[in-house]
Amino acid sequence: MADKPIRVALLGCGTVGTEVTRLLRDQAADLTARIGAPMEITGIAVRRPNKHRDVPAELLTTDAAALVASDDVDVVVEVIGGIEPARTLLLDALRAGKSVVTANKALLAESAGELFAAADASGADLYFEAAVAGAIPLLRPLRESLAGDRITRVMGIVNGTTNYILSAMDNTGSGYGETLEEASRLGYAEADPTADVDGFDAASKAAILASLAFHTRVTAADVHREGIASVASADIAAARALGRTVKLLAICERVTDTDESGETTESVAVRVHPAMIPRSHPLAGVGGAYNAVFVEADAAGSLMFYGQGAGGAPTASAVLGDLVAVGRNMVQGGRGPRESAYAALPVRPMGQTPTRYHISLDVADRAGVLSQVAAVFAEHDVSIAVVRQEGRTDDASLVIVTHAASEAALRSTVDMVAGLPVVREVVSVMRVEGTE
Ligand code: NDP
Ligand code: HSE
Repeated sequence: MADKPIRVALLGCGTVGTEVTRLLRDQAADLTARIGAPMEITGIAVRRPNKHRDVPAELLTTDAAALVASDDVDVVVEVIGGIEPARTLLLDALRAGKSVVTANKALLAESAGELFAAADASGADLYFEAAVAGAIPLLRPLRESLAGDRITRVMGIVNGTTNYILSAMDNTGSGYGETLEEASRLGYAEADPTADVDGFDAASKAAILASLAFHTRVTAADVHREGIASVASADIAAARALGRTVKLLAICERVTDTDESGETTESVAVRVHPAMIPRSHPLAGVGGAYNAVFVEADAAGSLMFYGQGAGGAPTASAVLGDLVAVGRNMVQGGRGPRESAYAALPVRPMGQTPTRYHISLDVADRAGVLSQVAAVFAEHDVSIAVVRQEGRTDDASLVIVTHAASEAALRSTVDMVAGLPVVREVVSVMRVEGTE
């Protein structure tokens, strides 16, 4: 057992940081035994020290840069969030050879390459389990446990706020606006819920997942992103009528194309969007603010990871796991995994990515309407899987679910269908995932 403590600088002491300090204090004896050396906090950087009455005043500072540079710091834990000043602080720490643990998905989805390069140059560790799906051990399995396998798909619910909203809309039949208000009132949605409801948070997480799964550098800008603001209660009802429910999914896929000579090429497709999934699908039962992610790999088959994807204590659990890993590396020598981006697969544009659509139309109820609509699908080589029609007095509701086709073909099909004189309104268009 080493006597010399491992000295930790904590940047940020909000929802997650407060729980990190609590766990470090409450579990001190066990952590010392597990790491082989005691771990102690030597400073905590915040914006408003007066707000933090529970923290010993001598630990608090507003000068995060000086804390990172201090000779009394071996490891930096960043739970501030956002791009700056977090990026500069972490680059400074890594360049100085100080290992970093961060929960900052926005930063990793933008600057992982730069951070890993700095870590490699100095031999420091960079761990970030808490950045995706809170408490759920997901990044370590991708980085380490599945490092000998070939991952083909990662798909799941990685944003708790939007899952809470969609689950509530499905359970109560209420609209998006009122459900968002309720989520804010109950403290699930943040004061500014934009990053969650517009899909930015999930897109950052998808970029991190795809990078690890496919050994390819994927940034948030590579991710096709749609949020849930346009999901109407009519969409949820239409899904229900088909035995489906609506979830915001992050989908990372390895796509293999074979040309006429039999040559294959691989690319990755990464997207975040609402989708109808069968009620029998395991992700359909993931309610409230929970997260769940499926990983498909050649040898391992299908794996499912499920648990609390947000919140102070669950996220701090993942931060502490990383801190123990860094501490062990320091005590025993060696380093954690480095960036693995050797495959450098191209990112496939969304227009070329195959998906399936559910399209709900209000049409005139007379002979020949269905054949006119079907002709547009045929013209775009989009194959129809399901058609359901309900007549009313002088119009009808027509629901079409397609087989997989390129996004570009599906989009132009919908545009042309919308222009048919017999189509009164395109009521809803939503992607469909999973087979019944
Ligand atoms: P909070 O907003 O609750 O806390 C942020 C903390 O950072 C506050 O203590 C704040 O100080 C401090 N801070 C902000 N700017 C500075 C600065 N310039 N210098 C020093 N300190 C600063 O955020 P969370 O704890 O919710 O999130 C932290 C990180 O964890 C984010 O990257 C987030 O994405 C990630 N994360 C969060 C989860 C969650 O459920 N909350 C789940 C998974 C990841 P002060 O308190 O004085 O204002
Ligand atoms: N805002 C995020 C969510 C926090 O709702 O899932 C966890 O990353």
